[in-house]
Amino acid sequence: MQIFLDTAKVDEIRKWKSVIAGVTTNPSILLKDGGNIYDLCNEVGNLPISLEACGDFKTDAIKYSQEIPGCNIKIPLLRPNGGHNLDLIAELSDQNIDINCTALFSLSQVILATKAGARYVSLFYGRIADEGGYPGNMISDCMDFLMREDADTELIIGSIRGVGDVLDSTNHDADIITIPPAILQKMVSHAYSRETVQMFERDNEELQKLSKVELK
Ligand code: E4P
Repeated sequence: MQIFLDTAKVDEIRKWKSVIAGVTTNPSILLKDGGNIYDLCNEVGNLPISLEACGDFKTDAIKYSQEIPGCNIKIPLLRPNGGHNLDLIAELSDQNIDINCTALFSLSQVILATKAGARYVSLFYGRIADEGGYPGNMISDCMDFLMREDADTELIIGSIRGVGDVLDSTNHDADIITIPPAILQKMVSHAYSRETVQMFERDNEELQKLSKVELK
C-alpha cells in the first residue's frame, strides 16, 4: 500500500515527505487551503501529482500536461451536465497522459474507467459510506478485478475522513490511499508514546545526575 497526500499545502508535503509516494489535490482543497498548483508541483519533484481538469476537460488536461510534464490529470468519469468522459480518458491515455479517473462510487465505474485506459481510478471512501454503502467490500471487489485483469491501473482511495478509514482501506488491500494531513497527524500521535518518551527523558536526566555523583 502506498500513501499519497491529499492536500494543497506545500508545508504539509515537506512535513510528510518521508512517508508519501505522491500527492493529490482538487479545486475544493485548493479553495480551502489557498494553495497554488505550481508551488505544489515544485515541492513534489519527481513524485506523481494528480491535478484536476475542470470546465473544458480536454483543454484543461492538455494545458496541465504541457505546463507540468509528468503530472497526472484527474478527469471525472461523469460530466456535470450529463454524459461521460470515457472517450476523453481513452484519447488522452493514448497520448501517454496519465489519467486519474476520479469521483468513482462503484465497481461498475471502476471497470469502465480501467477499460478506457486510466492509470489510476479513485474511489471515494467517505462519500460511499455517506450514502449507506460499505466501502471496504467495494475496495476488495475492485482490487480483485484489477488483479484478474492484470491491469496497469491502480486503485486510489480518496475521501478519507478518519484513521479507521485508512486502516479499513489497508485491510482491504487498496493499492494507494490518499490521506489528508490532519489524518496523518492522528496516525502518528499517541498519548502513551508521548508519555513514555517523556518518562525516558526524565529518567535519563536522573541517571546522568547519579553517575556524576558516583564519579566524585
Ligand atoms: C478526493 O480525493 C478527496 O478526498 C475529495 O476531496 C473528497 O473528500 P470528501 O468526501 O471528504 O469531501
